[in-house]
Amino acid sequence: MRVIKIFDTTLRDGEQSPGASMNVEEKVQVARQLARLGVDIIEAGFAISSPGDFEAIKTIGSEVEGPVICSLARAKEKDIRRAWEALQDIPKKRIHTFHSTSDIHLKYQFRISPEEALKRSVEMVKLARSFVEDVEFSPMDATRSDISYLCEIIEAVVDAGASTVNIPDTVGYSIPSEFGNLIKTIHDRVKNIEKAVISVHCHNDLGLAVANSLEAVRNGAGQIECTINGIGERAGNCSLEESVMALRTRRDIFDAHTNINTEEIMRSSRLVTKITGMSVQPNKATVGDNAFAPETGTQQEVVLKEKSTYEIIRPEIIGLHKTKLVLGKHSGRHAFKTRLGELGYTLTDDELNSAFERFKRLADQKKDIYDEDIEALISEEVAKIPEVYSLVDLYIVTGTGQKPTATITLKINEELKETTGQGDGPVDAAYKAIASLTNTKSSLHKYEVKGITGGTDALGEVMVSLEEGGRFVRGHGADTDIIVASAKAYIHALNKLTVKK
Ligand code: KIV
Ligand code: ZN
Repeated sequence: MRVIKIFDTTLRDGEQSPGASMNVEEKVQVARQLARLGVDIIEAGFAISSPGDFEAIKTIGSEVEGPVICSLARAKEKDIRRAWEALQDIPKKRIHTFHSTSDIHLKYQFRISPEEALKRSVEMVKLARSFVEDVEFSPMDATRSDISYLCEIIEAVVDAGASTVNIPDTVGYSIPSEFGNLIKTIHDRVKNIEKAVISVHCHNDLGLAVANSLEAVRNGAGQIECTINGIGERAGNCSLEESVMALRTRRDIFDAHTNINTEEIMRSSRLVTKITGMSVQPNKATVGDNAFAPETGTQQEVVLKEKSTYEIIRPEIIGLHKTKLVLGKHSGRHAFKTRLGELGYTLTDDELNSAFERFKRLADQKKDIYDEDIEALISEEVAKIPEVYSLVDLYIVTGTGQKPTATITLKINEELKETTGQGDGPVDAAYKAIASLTNTKSSLHKYEVKGITGGTDALGEVMVSLEEGGRFVRGHGADTDIIVASAKAYIHALNKLTVKK
């Protein structure tokens, strides 16, 4: 059975989604989870594009073991050198270089001839090969390129040392039969193609990215480029979870498998949602809230008797266990640390102490603590940022027929400050008080609240997005009291904004 490599580009193409930009710590957190998920390659960024991307590639390379770490680079000398600078100390590394090949891009974007594009591509693949063994080349906008020219450039870059050739459907224009034929043609016509892996990189403008990638696998592709939750430029990229689960569920058709540890899918999806603030729609295949929740009475009844009647994937295969009771009020530090280890978190002693303290506070408020609660608690610890503002006290007076009033005490640069605000609801009142204490000029762009586990004592998780002078930041907060969770999320975002400034 063939192994299809999974090349994850959540941290590069995924991050190009509007509003999904991540800081270095957030990227490292996602990369650690991608390693647990078992992806073969992590495209950690585009080294030359920003100091943040450069730093993220370096840090991920030094802290995350397992996958090959890759940087994107245009077919330009300065890009390739910058990618090398970011990658040089990393044991398993790849440079991914690209040049457009379609007439439309060459004419309007690059204003160069196809011959010149071929020459530059070959030279840059050679340059990249002088630094690293593992070089990938992408003829951008391949699906709108002349097929003979495409085959010619692929043959030339493979001769120059590219060991992966990636065929991007950059504008998400292709349809499955056509894309499958394209891969087959490349497979049949490019003389030296057996020296390289054919990869595919499909965008989802027509909603066909997964279908196109799967059809490519049936026609000889050995690598899929994809992102968690399908995030990415415009309508997004091929979704990792959907393509991996299609390959697994229909192994009878594809006769291929991946190295993905599918039980980590749900956790990866939730983490990317939390970090990017981009929620998946409830009916999203594989990871949507409704994907495993038959609603009609007949379906529910039959599924209880025999799961396979309506369930083609067992929920536990993607890590969707029935929320398991894990810890309670009497659990000790050791049990807490052990459970964290099982969930894949290693904290420093200080982080562990602070997380344990918060766990104990939570256990006082909430009888049963589930994995999801621990993850919410821990994500605040792992993604900690310097705190200019911290919440000391929050007192709300509200009721029907009464204007809600919030009295807030914040520690601001070690000084305690208190004020009172009134608003349309308790959250509005709390936010007005916080805004007045911090003198923020930011505006609230997005506010979302959801319950993490079932029950009225569940942790509420709040995600906010703030904007100031064109800068966007996201903040999270979790608490059994959603007003407190809301205040924490707002303060978290304000701290991030201060760091950004
Ligand atoms: O969509 C695209 O063509 C890309 C390339 C850089 C591979 O993202
Ligand atoms: Zn892309």
